[in-house]
Order: sequence, then C-alpha cells, then structure tokens
Amino acid sequence: MASSFLRTALRGAFITFRGNPFTDGQDALQYESDGLIICRDGLIEFAGPWDARHPLLAGATLRHYPDALMVPGFIDTHVHYPQMQMIGAYGAQLIDWLNTYTFVAEQQYSDLTYARTVADTFICELLRSGTTTAAVYCTVHPASVQTFFEAAEKRDLRMIAGKVLMDRNAPDALLDTAQSGYDDSLALINAWHGRGRLHYAITPRFAPTSSPAQLEAAGALWKGNPTTYMQTHLSENHDEIAWVKSLFPGRKGYLDVYDHYGLVGPRALYGHAIHVDASEWQRLAEADASVTHCPTSNLFLGSGLFDFARTCEPEAGLLPVRTGLATDVGAGTSLSMLRSMGEAYKVGQLGGYSLSAIKAFYLATRGAANALHLEHRIGSIAAGHDADIVVLDRHSTPLLKFRDSYCNSIEEVMFVLMTLADDRAVNAVYINGAPASLA
Ligand code: GUN
Ligand code: ZN
Repeated sequence: MASSFLRTALRGAFITFRGNPFTDGQDALQYESDGLIICRDGLIEFAGPWDARHPLLAGATLRHYPDALMVPGFIDTHVHYPQMQMIGAYGAQLIDWLNTYTFVAEQQYSDLTYARTVADTFICELLRSGTTTAAVYCTVHPASVQTFFEAAEKRDLRMIAGKVLMDRNAPDALLDTAQSGYDDSLALINAWHGRGRLHYAITPRFAPTSSPAQLEAAGALWKGNPTTYMQTHLSENHDEIAWVKSLFPGRKGYLDVYDHYGLVGPRALYGHAIHVDASEWQRLAEADASVTHCPTSNLFLGSGLFDFARTCEPEAGLLPVRTGLATDVGAGTSLSMLRSMGEAYKVGQLGGYSLSAIKAFYLATRGAANALHLEHRIGSIAAGHDADIVVLDRHSTPLLKFRDSYCNSIEEVMFVLMTLADDRAVNAVYINGAPASLA
C-alpha cells in the first residue's frame, strides 16, 4: 500500500502547548486559527498553518472542521472504571462512601462478563468525552485488568491501568494477600506492560487497605519493574489521614508511609493530595513524583481544595510538583475533562487562585502528559507525537453558540468551552490518526 494512502489531514483551528504556561507564560500556547495537521502511520507528521499547497497533502484524506477547535486528546490522570455504575452516590464523605457504595459495586467485577461490558462502556464514554489516555484503577480481580486492557487494545489506545491491591479493611470478597497481589500484578505486568500503547500501574489502593507486608511487596514489585507506574491515593480527607496515623504510628506522616515502603519516586501518581504539608510537598518535588487534581470528586465528597499555587507555580525557593487533572469517577461526577477544567477553576476561586483557560487546558493535555512522564508521546499536536486529537465543536449547544459569538480572543473561547461545554462538544476523536467510532 502506498504510504500516502495512510495519510489523514485535518484542517481547522487548533491549540497545543510548546511549553508550560505556569512557568513560560502565554507564549507556551500555540494557536493556529486556520491550521493543518497531517497524520501518518499513527503519528503527527506535520502541524502548522493551513497551506493548500503543502506537499504532504497529495493523496491524503482531508477533513475540514470550520466551527471547531482541535486540541490534543485529553488525558485523565486518575479514574476508576469499576465505579461507573455508582457515580452520584448520595450523602457520604470518603470512608463512608467507600464502605457504603464503592466496595459493594466493585464486588461485581468477579464476574468476567460484567467486567467486560463495563470496560467497553467506560472506554466508549471516555472517547465520547474526548479523553484518549487515562490512568485507570481496576478492581482487586485480575480479570478486571485483563478486560480493561483488551478493550483499550481493541481501540488502539494509550492507556495505563492496574489491579487494585487490598489485603485489609475491606470486605473479604475484595481482599487479596501480599503474596497473591504481588503474583497477580507481576503476571499482568508480563502480559500487558509495554504491549502496543499499554502501560501497567502497580496500584495499592491507599495505605489503610494494605498491610505493611503488602506495601513492602508493592515496593519490591516496583523496584523490580521500574518502568511501570505506581498509583495510589494520598491525603484526600481528614478522617483518612487520622486513620493512616493510627495504622502506621511509627511513620512521620501519610507520604512517609509510602516512602518507607519504596513507593515514592518518578512515575508515582498520587490521587488528590489535598491536605499535604510543606515537607511532604518538598519530598514529592525532590522525588519527581506526580499528583493528580480531581476537582469534581473533591467537591462531591467534600474533601477539600487543591493547592494549584503550591504545585504549579510555587514561591521562590520551592520546587514545583508534576500535576495532572483527573475526573476520579465514580467520586467524580463527570468523565468530561472539560467539566473537570471548569470545576478546577471554581476550586481555585475558593482558594483565591484564578486558573486561566490556558493553564487549565495545559493541565488536561501536555501538563497531564508531563505528570505521566509521557510528554514526548502524547498531550501535544506536534510532529512526531501520537496522533490522538479531539475536535471540539464551538457551537454544540445554542447557548455555547450564542456566547461564542461574543468571544474576542482564543483565551476567551477556551474559557467559555471549559465553563459551558461537555461531551456534546466532542465532534470527532482521532486515535493514532484514525477517526474513532463514538457510538
Ligand atoms: N481512596 C481510596 N479508594 C478511593 C476511591 O476509590 N475513590 C476515592 N476518591 N478515594 C479513594
Ligand atoms: Zn480515586
């Protein structure tokens, strides 16, 4: 087959980031009001201004999106696929919410057929929301990981996922042991990590549901498989933090529990990180670890307000911390990263910090890729990157169309999208340069 036959060309406005707007200012944003993106063999071959005479256009399939804004595929840095059936569970904060709703729902994933159905539905919903990469928690059942990776592989997606490790403080039906959790995770790493665009994350749920022996085993597993990720939860809720103190009285604090067991370092992803003290921030920064901000979840469970200023633009003398935005469904109330950006703005406002649209879009694209140490592959519309691209319709609702007509700058268009838009604005999604079915 002639290679030009595999080319797809997209014409329309697009944004991407050539740097970090928190440190490099507005210049970090690249905006093409009439742009051209050429994809070939899964990668972006060219991204720049529209040029009808561009030599790579010859033989390419051209699609034109006049009322759209193309953006890099969104990246959700923390989400639980087995909690889809319990989004919007009423009236509880973290520990009660886990016991009353979450641990009940997750028991259903011992059923392979059920897990397969939800994994497929979840991936479909992610794509309908414009999310092309996510760091995903499965359940304690190894088959829940298998079914998730199979669903992701079918769609050719770049995905990160792992089996939850949990050997105490949960219903018996959801418990593994330090040894079985280690063995099952290792088998999944050998089967899936590095296969196509799939990556494995060693996933101790959080300190309270793992014994010291299990955390030690998780640390050993990570040490033996250093290119994998390690994902867990950190300092989300005051009662949780007090519980961790009582379970690990010998440790200095929550992060120190993970540190003690070798679970702090590059490619560690800590969900929430709300109530983190100065020495813990310092340690996270020095260790080159990442945190994931989950605004809709933190609001829904009443967990607290994330400190953007500390992680993204700290005072002189303090190091920044890699930060990605995340939905945290099922505590999060939407799989849409546009909705997460909008709520991140409100969380910032409550803390006296006004998150700009440029910074919010960065945190959902290139910044999230940076948090995942995947900045060289995803999160940008740039030559050599994976061709994962989302086409946002600026007129997807009558209100959005009306409001859009009053926008005077690309920053305003972006801010209106993150304030008003949701999955209805996702007009098309390209995975590896090919249009995805959103049905
Ligand atoms: N902490 C431990 N497990 C969970 C979970 O499933 N969701 C959230 N939001 N926090 C957690
Ligand atoms: Zn979570």
